[in-house]
Amino acid sequence: MAIKQRDGFSGKFGVIAAAAGSAVGLGNIWRFPYVTGENGGGAFLLLYVFFIIVIGVPVMMSEFVIGRRSQSNAFGAFRKLSPGSAWWIIGLMGIVAAFVILSFYSTVAGWTLEYVYQAFSGNFAGKNITQLNADFANFTSGSWRPLFWQMLFMIFTAGVVFAGVQKGIEKYTKILMPVLLVMIIAICVRSVTLPGAEKGLRFLFEPDFSKLSFQGVLTALGQAAFSLSIGMGALITYGSYVRKDTPLLSTAVQVATTDTIIAILSGVMIFPAIMALGQDPAAGPGLVFVTLPGIFQAMPGGFYFAIVFFVLLSVAALTSTISVLEVVVAFLIEERKMSRGKATLIGAGAISIIGVACTLSFGPLKDFKIFDKTVFDLMDYLSANIFLTFGALLIVIYTGWKLGKSNFVDEINQAAKIPKFLSSTIVFIIKYIAPLAIGAVAIGAFFFEGLT
Ligand code: TRP
Repeated sequence: MAIKQRDGFSGKFGVIAAAAGSAVGLGNIWRFPYVTGENGGGAFLLLYVFFIIVIGVPVMMSEFVIGRRSQSNAFGAFRKLSPGSAWWIIGLMGIVAAFVILSFYSTVAGWTLEYVYQAFSGNFAGKNITQLNADFANFTSGSWRPLFWQMLFMIFTAGVVFAGVQKGIEKYTKILMPVLLVMIIAICVRSVTLPGAEKGLRFLFEPDFSKLSFQGVLTALGQAAFSLSIGMGALITYGSYVRKDTPLLSTAVQVATTDTIIAILSGVMIFPAIMALGQDPAAGPGLVFVTLPGIFQAMPGGFYFAIVFFVLLSVAALTSTISVLEVVVAFLIEERKMSRGKATLIGAGAISIIGVACTLSFGPLKDFKIFDKTVFDLMDYLSANIFLTFGALLIVIYTGWKLGKSNFVDEINQAAKIPKFLSSTIVFIIKYIAPLAIGAVAIGAFFFEGLT
């Protein structure tokens, strides 16, 4: 039986914990607020949720189906399911995307470790926003310090991936994710009771479509893909570890719901505080690292809150980075016949090299620009807006037009039979709606507004 040959998740809850662990990460708490802030708030949020439902869930299901049916890594999956065709290119793109994503993600993940350290040292106490901003800029523009934390984070990631998925990450995410949720809710309560908070809530929830450009629409789509961990084969890889008696539809819906709730709560946690503290919502990647210390030091028990929060944020980042590294490692193990140890070392090592350039682009390399973007900004932009958007497009086209309805429906019906109208609707979305929507957004962004 296939389940016996490969490492795998213990059951449905394990899959959900691991996939939600992958989905919930810096994308929700760090990236979502800052791209929402840069793109005008409410209208962006509405589109984001629309894309999660219409594109996110179908792509997630497609990835699970491709992975479980093939019992293979993201690259091998297409070769097994469609031998002799060129669809393996999707898998190859996924490997490249893993490099792009992890290189800048590990920079920010490293920052979270520094902030754990700062929280422990009581560094936020009594500081105003200007001072917290200066602290953040000072730290990120350095060299050795951010690099140290980044490398430490890569070592943690490699350590977990090396140990295998079930005994490490599955076990801990089951406990830590709910704790994170409770923490976020508590911080939300503090945030919405700050004076001036309604301005922030209005920014987040009142749609003003005049603020949205085609680029903004593309960013919403890219953010939806990024946040759900779709479009590059992470969920193909995880799908290959899912047992046949795990229902894929309800799993995908539950993972997407959890992820979306945490993103929206992050917005509720951050925007009121931004407005109350007089910060600019479009301030970019530093948003969370300045705003949150700003509210921690103004709340009772803030010292402890800060510690627990940044520890959990690091954990959330870790459960995401391992899913990205696992794509590369599973590929190297199965396609290049490496041992897990060697594959982990080579994968993590190679990614770290580009990672260095991302970290230094806040300091020594800040004037080094490609397409008018620093290396960090370029990787951030490329990952979501190009690789994941394009990857998601190819995955739905593959599932809808090549893998075909009968294979897809057979696979999603393995554990529990889904009503026929529902599976037909999902197939219709995968075949027509999702590719057209992604195509329209991408064409609009590139042809009307260019790579800006
Ligand atoms: N979804 C994660 C986050 O929101 C990031 C992530 C993990 C990811 N694995 C991925 C993004 C695979 C795209 C593809 O932080």
